[in-house]
Amino acid sequence: MSTSRVLIIDPEEASLQFLAKEIRKAEYEVITASTGKEGLILAWRERPHVLIIDPNLPDISREEMIQKLRSDRRTARRLFIAFSSLSDPQDVQDTLNLGYDHYLTKEADAIPALLDAIAGKESQKPEQPIMVDRPEKPTKKPTKQGDGKLIVLFSAKGGTGTSSMCANLAPFIVNNQPDARVVVVDLVLPIGSIAHIVGYSGPLNIIEAAEMSDVEISKEYLQTSLPETGLWKFQLFAGSPKPDDANQLNISRIPVMLNLLQQAFDYVMVDLGRSLSKISLPILLEADQICLILSPEQGTVTLTKIVCEYLESKGLLKEQVYPLINRAVGLEGLTKSEIEDILDMNITGSIPYMGHNFSLANNLHLPIYYKFPEEVATLSLRQAAQEITDRAIRFKEKRLLAI
Ligand SMILES: Nc1ncnc2c1ncn2[C@@H]1O[C@H](COP(=O)(O)OP(=O)(O)OP(=O)(O)O)[C@@H](O)[C@H]1O
Ligand SMILES: [Mg+2]
Repeated sequence: MSTSRVLIIDPEEASLQFLAKEIRKAEYEVITASTGKEGLILAWRERPHVLIIDPNLPDISREEMIQKLRSDRRTARRLFIAFSSLSDPQDVQDTLNLGYDHYLTKEADAIPALLDAIAGKESQKPEQPIMVDRPEKPTKKPTKQGDGKLIVLFSAKGGTGTSSMCANLAPFIVNNQPDARVVVVDLVLPIGSIAHIVGYSGPLNIIEAAEMSDVEISKEYLQTSLPETGLWKFQLFAGSPKPDDANQLNISRIPVMLNLLQQAFDYVMVDLGRSLSKISLPILLEADQICLILSPEQGTVTLTKIVCEYLESKGLLKEQVYPLINRAVGLEGLTKSEIEDILDMNITGSIPYMGHNFSLANNLHLPIYYKFPEEVATLSLRQAAQEITDRAIRFKEKRLLAI
């Protein structure tokens, strides 16, 4: 863990500098902020593994600070240590209940316990109760990320077949792992299309669910209420049915719902379409695998390159990206190796052009594997699904080890 990044948010300059120096000595990368606002910006931009916060900040209340960090996907499951000059047991208890993992008081000899907490160890000096473990998890905000792998279907350009790929890859995940629970979430705004592809017309969708409270929308609720889709083998979290509905979407609920979904399902597949926005960027960065759908024309590939460079500048790793060529528009176009050269990526996934057969299957609400079991596209989808899940599992394990 010696390469972990630690963010210290402390308005007391002397305490901030002292802590930063001591933690750097232990070979951690340290970044600092002296106000809550500055701290939030750094937390979301730099994505530290550990956050040490003096909860008594001048500009943001202690409740709001931890709530903002715990409800944002970029920081929800980081390690939070409260470092405060208040030692009253009630303050300690209240602060822990807000969602901190540890509480330490500012004392000269707090550093060893602090370093233990950063390294995820128990304090070496239990007789000195400067470190108090949180007695119970806060009940309101989900603080623990589930084990579910987050697979995001994304494209730099519309019409490349992102939704069709999302719906048609999901059944193969279940084929490959029959016990796996898979949910497909349609986050394409202003209007989703996966419900149309699979033929679902029920009332439950992301807009409705975003209006529900934490009590109503639990992990169990999602497991039991999201509709099954028969031959498609996944449960569906349908998207916005009409553009008007999308305008009503309470976007602050999306990270909370995705977090719960990852607790409720083994695989959470999200159709993001070509959205690159304030809502979608954190989802992309948090993905265990982004299935990047490409059509093989120059324009799409060039746009894809620009988008990938942007995402990499925000911290996305190449190993998070699985490029998938989908020949949705015809047989011509760039070859795989031409696309690989432009993107500087190795591409193994490629779905052939299926002509009218693809739309035919979509119109009949039937999966490709079922309608055209012998087609090359079926084999290609199966192989791509296998590669994506393998990579997602590997990435998730690596990420969990790094935390
Ligand atoms: N490999 C393929 N061969 C033939 N047709 C395809 C193929 N893949 C997708 N299509 C067709 O391309 C059209 C667009 O597909 P889809 O709606 O999945 O794209 P999308 O990227 O999700 O579009 P949007 O940007 O509107 O969300 C559909 O009519 C679909 O049937
Ligand atoms: Mg779509």
